[in-house]
Amino acid sequence: MNVKRVYSIAIDGPAGAGKSTMAKLLAKKLGFVYVDTGAIYRTVGYHMDLMGIGPKDADGVLRLLDDVNLEITYDEGGVQHMILNGRDVSGEIRTPEMSKIASQISALSCVRTFLLDMQRDVAKTHNVIMDGRDIGTVVLPKADVKIYLTASAEVRAERRLKELQEKGMDVKYETVLKEIKERDHQDMTRTIAPLKQAKDALLLDTSELNLEQSVAAMESIIRERIVL
Ligand code: DC
Repeated sequence: MNVKRVYSIAIDGPAGAGKSTMAKLLAKKLGFVYVDTGAIYRTVGYHMDLMGIGPKDADGVLRLLDDVNLEITYDEGGVQHMILNGRDVSGEIRTPEMSKIASQISALSCVRTFLLDMQRDVAKTHNVIMDGRDIGTVVLPKADVKIYLTASAEVRAERRLKELQEKGMDVKYETVLKEIKERDHQDMTRTIAPLKQAKDALLLDTSELNLEQSVAAMESIIRERIVL
């Protein structure tokens, strides 16, 4: 039997490092499926919030997970959409409040276990570029390429501020920087699957690079390791 080989690329790093922007561009270029795992955690957090369950109420969250039916779909442009119980919530999950809730909820072991197979299943059947916090360490430990993408908190806050302002949100640099630092702390210090660089991941720091340079650097790391 001739089983088709699929490739996986794991990109981890802190909030605002540019993971999704870069992964999306490269997925398109390489013909891979882009999986934004942060969006999956955000959707679970959104559901809990909708139901009035706080992110620290582990029992309540566990109880409600049974009611969570998640689907990942892609539009013609290859953009990922999150469908929660039949409703597209891709817009609603992109607020600073949902960033915070997603970070808190993702520290719960019941949530991580619930989402693990879903993420692995996509990578079994498709060439994927998957981004998140624990892709190279936990979700896809055998990924063909692992990249740890980072930038200083200040640079990340500036980029995030621009993004939010472009969406018409009225936010201050200091607030964004504070939120970024809090999220780094929460994601890096949690007990289960904390954000860290996998031993075999390559470090790419984009503090001094613009988007075009960052994408070029990432593409060359990938092409050196995968021959398509
Ligand atoms: O990538 P993002 O900012 O959309 O992710 C939102 C939160 O989800 C992040 O702060 C931590 C959590 N997350 C996680 O724990 N593991 C992942 N693989 C992806 C995201």
